[in-house]
Amino acid sequence: MTSPITTTRDGDVLIVVSNNPPVNALSAAVRIGIDAAIDEAAGDDGIKAVVIACDGQTFFAGADITEFGKPPVEPLLPTLVDKIEASEKPVVAAIHGTALGGGCEVAIACHYRIAVPSAKLGTPEVKLGLLPGAGGTQRLPRLAGVELALEMVAKGDPIPARKAHEAGLVDRLADEGALRAEAVAFAREVASVRPLPRASEKQAKAEPGVFDAFRKTNARRFRGFDAPEANIACVEKATQSPYAEGVQFERESFMKLMFGVQSAAQRHIFFAERKASKIDDIPADIQLRDIKRVGVIGAGTMGGGISMNFLSAGIPVTIVEMQQEALDRGTGVMRRNYEASAAKGRMKPEQVEAAMGALKPTLALADLADCDLIIEAVYENMDVKKELFGKLDAIAKPGAILASNTSYLNVDEIAASTSRPQDVVGMHFFSPANVMKLLEVVRGAKTAPDVLATVMKLGKTIKKVAVVAGVCHGFIGNRMLMPRQVEAMKLLMEGATPEQIDRVHVEFGMPMGPFQMSDLAGVDIGWHRDPTRIESIRDALAAEKRWGQKTQAGFYDYDEKRTPSPSPRVAEIIEDFRKQTGTPQHEITDEEIVERTLYPMVNEGALILEEGMAQRASDIDVVWIYGYGWPVYRGGPMFWADTEGLKKIVAGLEKHGFEVSTLLKDKAEKGERFN
Ligand code: 3HC
Repeated sequence: MTSPITTTRDGDVLIVVSNNPPVNALSAAVRIGIDAAIDEAAGDDGIKAVVIACDGQTFFAGADITEFGKPPVEPLLPTLVDKIEASEKPVVAAIHGTALGGGCEVAIACHYRIAVPSAKLGTPEVKLGLLPGAGGTQRLPRLAGVELALEMVAKGDPIPARKAHEAGLVDRLADEGALRAEAVAFAREVASVRPLPRASEKQAKAEPGVFDAFRKTNARRFRGFDAPEANIACVEKATQSPYAEGVQFERESFMKLMFGVQSAAQRHIFFAERKASKIDDIPADIQLRDIKRVGVIGAGTMGGGISMNFLSAGIPVTIVEMQQEALDRGTGVMRRNYEASAAKGRMKPEQVEAAMGALKPTLALADLADCDLIIEAVYENMDVKKELFGKLDAIAKPGAILASNTSYLNVDEIAASTSRPQDVVGMHFFSPANVMKLLEVVRGAKTAPDVLATVMKLGKTIKKVAVVAGVCHGFIGNRMLMPRQVEAMKLLMEGATPEQIDRVHVEFGMPMGPFQMSDLAGVDIGWHRDPTRIESIRDALAAEKRWGQKTQAGFYDYDEKRTPSPSPRVAEIIEDFRKQTGTPQHEITDEEIVERTLYPMVNEGALILEEGMAQRASDIDVVWIYGYGWPVYRGGPMFWADTEGLKKIVAGLEKHGFEVSTLLKDKAEKGERFN
């Protein structure tokens, strides 16, 4: 096997180059190659300095995550980076693309760093439930200062090379395209400078209180996660102890996280997210349709949000409404959203103008004739949608993709109202559509393979995580939500309170519980059709105009700041219903709430798999993480079920009288997992 590492000489500089596509992960072969290259430099009197660089799209993007959990192969990354730092000859890291995780640790173990301005440096390990485990938490604060190091390790977002340069993390910026040559020149320039600058020999100093202040500021963001605190503790240690002790502490913390369930869950999601974009029965190299202009029908919250995704990605949008006033209101909201982003520094003012300039508002459906993809985001009603698709069939150019943003309706039925069902697909965005990362792509019975593949690819272009779903009521996400909401209502009737049920969900790690969610979405959804009907607790609340947050009353009472408090009136309404129906009461434990609201979701997920409505269990996990805020550290409902043990889930479901999916039962009996 040829090594991914090659060495060449430029006079007295040894250039060590890695070529390990796609991201130059620091696999065993890469580590072995670098190790040998450092020996080669040490053993050759003609070599005065070393450059470490990468071919391809990026500098080392980290340890090879696929090696985690397998038997370790020497040299381990911590040993290798120490060896680089210990080299008697200066080593220069030449950085382009992203120097991430272990890649950043290699860079900061080098004596010098040169980077192109487009490069980024970061330690995203925390997003995998880990910490930089090759001296990163100890070298980074010594080089870049404690505050920047804390931000980098505990939050995991990479920083641009310019910022790294200002912080002293990068010594020099190189011209784009001239990195290698400038790195060699830099190496030659510093070849005889002694002592060699070694990060581990510097001091990390912190102002008093900086760690506690950081913990406090970020408490909400870090809630439930183990890794951020472990990262903070390591940086704190760097300010208190000699390097060797700090590294020892880092190693122990790293191992603890690595073998914990949270990191396993977060690594699962990393790969699940990437797997989701793959369609099992469609070749990866299928010819895609060209999408140059997108049409969106409806300028409400959904249509506006959907349009913004494309505009932000540089794809022009034609947006259609029925009335001028609604059109103006919709485009006004879009502009304000962009301006708010600009005010927060997330975009430049000229980017706002570029995005809005690529928007063509119109009242004429016929203006969609030049669009390559048309997404309908109108009222959720089958007759309305069918009529609209009939019209689109007459207007759209041949080969245009016709998509519905329906969240429940049958895409095959919608497709049947056109003469080209092969061009019809579902694109279910989640509100707010310009923010939420999930996109459920609904594959109809007749959807053409290239249509599906084009939409999935487009999902990536607009920075969504796209998941394929089959045609069934509610697709993947909303279908699994239903049994949870139904069961939560039953629990209310049997003696639980909204506060208790919501608390259990929030403690589990969800952003909100079922009743908080109802109050946010609107308790009155579906009720206006027949306001005389009072058949459920929801109806009774709606009849009293307790429609949720928008009327400052729902399952909770709200003050002007939308802070919820338990409602005595709701307690009365619930009590009335319990009496009227004669529902037997019992004390409901938190455990029962978990078993009756979360286990049925797993059961529904299993049914979805059984029916082939999702390609794989990990896709279901991705839907719940990115669409509904399922805690990442629990890896999604199916991964969570695996960690709980499928036997336990089945027993819990049976205990409460649920009909258990055959697939779930089978897997439990065989001791198998979903993931
Ligand atoms: N190890 C193994 N495979 C990796 C990898 C890694 N560190 N990073 C990415 N890959 C794989 C992906 O799974 C994907 O594989 P696929 O094509 O088979 O699906 C392929 O490389 C391309 O990845 P992306 O689709 O994500 O490509 P992008 O160009 O969109 O993004 C990236 C590139 C920014 C480098 C992104 O892949 C990324 O963020 N990678 C993870 C970086 C990371 O977390 N590094 C830290 C690792 S942990 C560590 O270093 C521990 C150490 O401290 C001891």
